[in-house]
Amino acid sequence: MAISTDLNLAKQFLESGELVAIPTETVYGLAGNALDPLAVAAIFDTKNRPSFDPLIIHVASIQAVDQYILEFPKALHKLAEKFWPGPLTLLLPKAPQIPDLVTSGLDRVAIRVPDHPLTLELLRALDFPLAAPSANPFGYISPTTPAHVNAQLGELIPMILDGGPSAVGLESTIVGMEGDEIIVYRLGGLEIDLIEGVVGKVQLQDHSSSNPQAPGLLESHYAPTKPFILGDLNKLIPHYASQGKYFGVLSFQNFSEEVASEKQIILSKVGDLKEAAANLFAAMRSLDGMNIDFILAELAPDHGLGKAINDRLKRASATRG
Ligand code: TXA
Ligand code: MG
Repeated sequence: MAISTDLNLAKQFLESGELVAIPTETVYGLAGNALDPLAVAAIFDTKNRPSFDPLIIHVASIQAVDQYILEFPKALHKLAEKFWPGPLTLLLPKAPQIPDLVTSGLDRVAIRVPDHPLTLELLRALDFPLAAPSANPFGYISPTTPAHVNAQLGELIPMILDGGPSAVGLESTIVGMEGDEIIVYRLGGLEIDLIEGVVGKVQLQDHSSSNPQAPGLLESHYAPTKPFILGDLNKLIPHYASQGKYFGVLSFQNFSEEVASEKQIILSKVGDLKEAAANLFAAMRSLDGMNIDFILAELAPDHGLGKAINDRLKRASATRG
């Protein structure tokens, strides 16, 4: 397995139907030729992902989208013009050229232009789009570094294209239309306020586990393997400390005197939501790897990127089953 910046090598693997982990500004993706059903099947296999959970395809530019869709609704086109390349995924009516396996048989395909120089150069060099879910085993925390990918999928793929740590650190915001209504299906790296600044009020769709439109938005996604308890740290910490429990702490901004410093991670000492988002998944992983029995965490302020951060924290704390 190679961890390298060699674009030609990545291109060769992808052209021969193999998978390569690619850097994006949101999280690392597990990429394969989106037009090759065998490569797409290998993605589901490698991630251990149920085939009813559709994939996002990645293209180099807004112009490259047209051949893969039937139409580009005006409002969504405006969003693409404003925010691509960037952490925005659009659900668009799919052209027949996109294999049904990519969309799990749905009639919309999820598309985005990622904002990472290496991956954009790779996409420009290829004559097919890349299907790429986050490069983690199904249900686990998304990777934001090559080391994260390597830890779980390293044995299963020939190459990780090394683009350094992901700058945004949260998956893309997923947006589509139902009738005239603009719907956000997944909170993510692009804030809702910015979207509304371009297209007006949007609706946030409740992602219950019964939502057939986005089966991947199940609760208990983005979950560490250790129990993850969300609440008021000022109460949780003394409560569990008094019982002599072994736990770690994920705090938004403040240091706790009651917990050893190596057992706590602060997302942003200055309380910056961007910084907190960029640190979130690495922090969850490193707590998950500590010699502790469970993780205590608190929500971020609930505005801007804080909404997406809190969405992931809540999913991490949802009980599995
Ligand atoms: O930032 C991101 O979006 C990253 C990077 C690699 O681009 N990708 C990512 O992919 O997060 P993934 O597969 O982990 O999450 C994509 C989610 C899926 O859970 C799925 O439910 C939803 O997008 N999705 C994909 N295609 C869809 C479709 N046609 N209709 C509804 N939801 C769809
Ligand atoms: Mg994912």
